[in-house]
Amino acid sequence: QSVAILGAPFSKGQKRGGVEHGPKVIRDAGLIERLSSLDYSVHDFGDLSFHLPETDEPHMNVKSPRSVGGANQKLSRAVSRAVGAGHTVVMLGGDHSLAIGSVSGHAQQCPDLCVIWVDAHADINTPMTSPSGNLHGQPVAFMLKELQDKIPDIPGFSWTKPFLSSRDLVYVGLRDVDPGEHHILKNLGIQYFTMRDIDRLGIQRVMEVTLDHLLARKQRPIHLSFDIDAFDPSLAPATGTPVNGGLTYREGIYLAEEIHNTGLLSAIDLVEVNPVLGANQEAVEATASLAVDVIASSLGQTREGAHASIPAEK
Ligand code: ARG
Ligand code: MN
Ligand code: MN
Ligand code: MN
Repeated sequence: QSVAILGAPFSKGQKRGGVEHGPKVIRDAGLIERLSSLDYSVHDFGDLSFHLPETDEPHMNVKSPRSVGGANQKLSRAVSRAVGAGHTVVMLGGDHSLAIGSVSGHAQQCPDLCVIWVDAHADINTPMTSPSGNLHGQPVAFMLKELQDKIPDIPGFSWTKPFLSSRDLVYVGLRDVDPGEHHILKNLGIQYFTMRDIDRLGIQRVMEVTLDHLLARKQRPIHLSFDIDAFDPSLAPATGTPVNGGLTYREGIYLAEEIHNTGLLSAIDLVEVNPVLGANQEAVEATASLAVDVIASSLGQTREGAHASIPAEK
């Protein structure tokens, strides 16, 4: 079992600087050591280097289109290569616009993959519906076949084409959805669980229905796209768009454990950790260490403990 770590120090999908330092603080919180102790062979491919264009004027409402498009093209190739080489991929962001490259690169190798999007936000605005123009609020719209007609030609994005069906996506943790996004979710009949749904059903039932929705017809690779702002801001304060009333620590870890237990997890994005936005060092370390806990639990760290099988034990 091997894991590839890919750092993506990129922030142009939104306007707050600092999220490009996410990969560093997540590594500093002990990611490699934790995964090694789970008996993975860990291949840290380091950070991608993104060369950003000198000028990158908005296209209509869309901000930094060439930077975001170019970075994602590079990331897509890197993820595709790592999955093709047999690794489970862990992509460290960076902002959530990076999911365009990460999921598309994964899908190149695994065309039948499904996506679990854990986030306070739906990130499914189109360039027309986006209230902010920030591409980290739009990545899902670039992936979905059903939204093909809603995506205009944008500089930097000629390499992409939609590859995911709306039935192959489930959201968990939503609590800040824009009107245009709500319309799309309802119109396409996308399966989603808001924080209110978690209040009503409990995280156990939510994960049961999520996995059943995606896997009942057939077993296929899972892409977990985890925005740290899914957690309550009291647990993950160092992030750009915090929203009150998020996942508890135990809900987040249970979700990750259940995904691990499918045996189908093939790639993880861990995005939107922004060390510059922590009020102090403790706030930054708490956020980064939570990110490490989610990744480790997704990859098999258990709360009950574990032991290597002893031959004589049979
Ligand atoms: N819905 C808002 C927007 O479109 C916020 C998106 C926040 N996204 C994120 N990945 N944190 O701008
Ligand atoms: Mn900086
Ligand atoms: Mn979010
Ligand atoms: Mn997000």
